[in-house]
Amino acid sequence: MKGIIERYRAYLPVTDKTPVVTLLEGDTPLIPSRCLPEVLGVKVKVYFKFEGLNPTGSFKDRGMTMAVSKGVELGSKAVVCASTWNTSASAAAYAARAGIACVVLIPQGQIALGKLAQALIHGARVIPILGNFDRALALVKEISKVRPILIVNSINPYRIEGQKTAAFEVVDVLGDAPDIHCIPVGNAANITAYWKGYKEYKKEGKATRLPKMWGFQASGAAPLVRGKIIEDPQTIATAIRIGNPASGPAALATREESGGAIDEVSDDEILEAYQLLANREGVFSEPASAAAVAGLIKYARKGLLKAGQTVVCTLTGHGLKDPDTATKVKNLPPPVKPDKDAVLKAIGL
Ligand code: F0G
Repeated sequence: MKGIIERYRAYLPVTDKTPVVTLLEGDTPLIPSRCLPEVLGVKVKVYFKFEGLNPTGSFKDRGMTMAVSKGVELGSKAVVCASTWNTSASAAAYAARAGIACVVLIPQGQIALGKLAQALIHGARVIPILGNFDRALALVKEISKVRPILIVNSINPYRIEGQKTAAFEVVDVLGDAPDIHCIPVGNAANITAYWKGYKEYKKEGKATRLPKMWGFQASGAAPLVRGKIIEDPQTIATAIRIGNPASGPAALATREESGGAIDEVSDDEILEAYQLLANREGVFSEPASAAAVAGLIKYARKGLLKAGQTVVCTLTGHGLKDPDTATKVKNLPPPVKPDKDAVLKAIGL
C-alpha cells in the first residue's frame, strides 16, 4: 500500500516538492458479484469497485490526498468545503493529517450519523447551514474570496485528478476497461473523473477501449435527467441530494463522448439494491452507492445488457456511515427470555 500519489505519480500533477499528505488511500478491491448475473438474467461479469474501504470510508479520499497535498505545497493553512458529509469527513481527516484547519458547511437536515461523527472527531469547524447543499457550495465560493481558505470541493481541479486513479485501478486489475461503468451521480465530479482516467489510460496504451459511462441520480434529485435545477432535492440517498451539480456540464459531455447514459432511480429501487448488496453479496455500501446497482438492474430489465459484457459498479461509500438507514429497513426484534426454549423459538430454524 502506497497511497494513490506514490502509486500513480507519473499521471498526477505533483513534483518532488509536493508534500504528500496521505492516509494510504486507494487500492480498493474490485469484488466480483456473486448473484447479479442471475438477478439481471444475462450472462455478464459484474464487479464492485468498493470505495467504502478507503481510509475515511468513501472515494473522496482519492481526491482529498491530492487537493490537500497541493494546498499545503501552495501554502494553504486552511481548507473549506460544502458537503453532503462524505467530502467533509475526508477533508477533516486529511486536514488533521496535514496539521491545517478545516471548515465544513453542511446542508440542513438528513444527517448520516457516521459522517457527522467523522467531521466532528477530526476537529473540523462544522457549520450547519439553514439551506441545501447548493446554497452551501455557493457560500463556500464567496468565503474563499474573502479569506485565504482553499476550496476542496470537486471544483478544485486536483480533486478530479486524484479521483481518476480509481479508473486506473479498474484497468490494472481487469487488464482492460470494462464495457460499462455504473456510478451514482450527485455533484457529478466522480463520473467525470473516471472518464478522464479511462481516457488517459487508453492514450497510454494501458487499455484498448473505453467503457460506456452509465450515471444514476436519485429521482427526487435528478437535475441532469430533468434538464433543470431542482430547488428542493429529496432522496433517501442523502449523499447525492444535490439539485444543481457543479460538474453537470462535464458529466453530460461524458455521457455523450462515452455513448452512455445519465438516468434516474427511485428511492425504492435504491433501497432494494442496497439490501441486495448487503444480503446477497455481503457488501455493505451506503444508499447513494446502491444507486449504481439499482441503475444497472433497471437497464438490464430494459434489455440494454449483452451476454459476455463486463460491468463495473462503483460503490462510493461504506454502509456504516449511515446506520440509521440500515436500522430503518431492518428492525431489531424484541428481546426474549434468557432460556433455551425461548431462544430456539426466536431463531425459528
Ligand atoms: N456517492 C457518495 C457516497 C457520495 O458521497 C457522493 C458525493 C456521490 C456518490 C456522488 O459523487 O458528487 O462526484 O457525483 N458526495 C459529495 C459530498 C457531494 O459532499 O460528500 P459526485
